[in-house]
Amino acid sequence: MDTKLLFQDAAGFVTPMLAVFAVDIATGKDAEPLLALLTTSDAITNAAAKVLESGEFKATVGESLLLHAPNGLKAERLLIVGLGKASGLCADEVRKAAGTAVRAAKPRDVRDMAIAFPEDHALSDEHLEELPCTLTARALVEGAELANIDYDTYRSDRKDRSLRTLTVIAKESEKSTTTEIHTGFDEGLIVAAAQNFTRSLVNEPGNVLTPTVLGERAAAMCAEMGLTCEVYSTAKLQELKMGAFSAVAQGSGEPPALIVMTYEPKVAKGQALAADAPVLGLVGKGITFDTGGISIKSADGMEKMKYDMAGAGAMIGAMRAIAQLKPKVKVIGVVCSAENMPDGKAFKPGDVVTAMSGKTIEIINTDAEGRLVLADGLHYAKTLGCTHLIDAATLTGACVVALGILNVGLFSNDEATWDKFQQAIKSSGERFWRLPCTDDYKDQIKSQIADIMNTGKTRWGGAISAAMFLKEFAGDTPWVHLDIAGCAWNEENKPWLAYGPTGVAVRSIVEWVRSYDS
Ligand code: BES
Ligand code: ZN
Ligand code: ZN
Repeated sequence: MDTKLLFQDAAGFVTPMLAVFAVDIATGKDAEPLLALLTTSDAITNAAAKVLESGEFKATVGESLLLHAPNGLKAERLLIVGLGKASGLCADEVRKAAGTAVRAAKPRDVRDMAIAFPEDHALSDEHLEELPCTLTARALVEGAELANIDYDTYRSDRKDRSLRTLTVIAKESEKSTTTEIHTGFDEGLIVAAAQNFTRSLVNEPGNVLTPTVLGERAAAMCAEMGLTCEVYSTAKLQELKMGAFSAVAQGSGEPPALIVMTYEPKVAKGQALAADAPVLGLVGKGITFDTGGISIKSADGMEKMKYDMAGAGAMIGAMRAIAQLKPKVKVIGVVCSAENMPDGKAFKPGDVVTAMSGKTIEIINTDAEGRLVLADGLHYAKTLGCTHLIDAATLTGACVVALGILNVGLFSNDEATWDKFQQAIKSSGERFWRLPCTDDYKDQIKSQIADIMNTGKTRWGGAISAAMFLKEFAGDTPWVHLDIAGCAWNEENKPWLAYGPTGVAVRSIVEWVRSYDS
């Protein structure tokens, strides 16, 4: 989509469809909705006045209403889009509303549209806490770009209904400068493109996206974005003594891929990053298909396990955005990709494998393969010099049972790193819920015959047992673990987002990385 930012009067803009945001400014729990538009344009306000008075439209999130031939406007249609309640409004509602606007246009074959930038100062201060305009611009662009994609690329009757152009029409005011809006707009384009790249990877079926192909796609992205990328396979895993990762890979005819992407910040001539500057390690689970291996999964829903590389996808996408946003911090992305298959050569329950760190692992269940590949990925990232680690993985069904599909499970061994992450998610709009991984849970993964085992003694708190396993390999290095199993796939079309891969965690990981910018 060709997305532009213009500073002019939205009412005078010629377009097939102009979208404007509406909020409910009524206070009190059971109060009838009282609607207001986030625009200072009298012409738009007048064009929408009658229908807003009618009470037919409540301005809830995901709701929109279309008027043809709006009086006094140059646009052919006016789309009024709900942002929800004015009090407590934040950037995420703007993200959803922009998405709702785009997804209202698509089925109508409207291919070019405009969105009036929300002017919160259209309301008096008592009704609205201020939306920082950089964040608003960013959220608006992200929401629109994410919404423009439908995952129907494999349908032969596919009709491309995506928008060709989107024009965001803003006004400079006392509260917002063109520079601030431009900054958010540009960041939004970068981050959304990265998230959409992640989504395109996660959408691919397992027969298309093998570990080798994932390696090729990551390498192509790195070449395009100016990142260094190395893709290794079986021989390198053996050389590095990655016994846990190798065990998972050995049952498949498809060779594994160990993908290492490096971002080195450019520093001015004669200057260097401090010797003790942080190096961030982004480690992703890249199981391109998880059958469960010898501990095979039941057939019901197994097709979904093509998305078991969503953690890897998130890290590759995050690296793409980092390459463009250029924070002054070194970042290394490590993706451990394999296919988990049952086979005469597959690893088995009861096997004991030695991880790269030297720890021995008793395999209880070959379906708990994600933690095995990550064990070696986390350790390897440390040997590459990473001082802080973050991993993302569709790791456990237990996390989905615990938190459902709205919150990512988060674990950390370090309060300062967790604080940084908490700050970062304020602008990403993604939701995470911290779960415990204190040492008293360690008993769950004690083995009778090896250092640890790859599942918990009991099935209770399965997401925690998995995190405890990973914690063994993070060691003393500050680490955050994101269990994205419940949030990486959108099971139903939402007004602002299509069915399919969500690209969850990309935005938050990117913000977390930027928070280390020196
Ligand atoms: N990839 C799955 C986790 C998963 C389950 C992701 C459901 C998305 C939806 C993972 O490899 C797995 O199979 N984990 C097992 C662990 C168990 C054997 C201890 C699980 O969660 O059942
Ligand atoms: Zn599994
Ligand atoms: Zn898995």
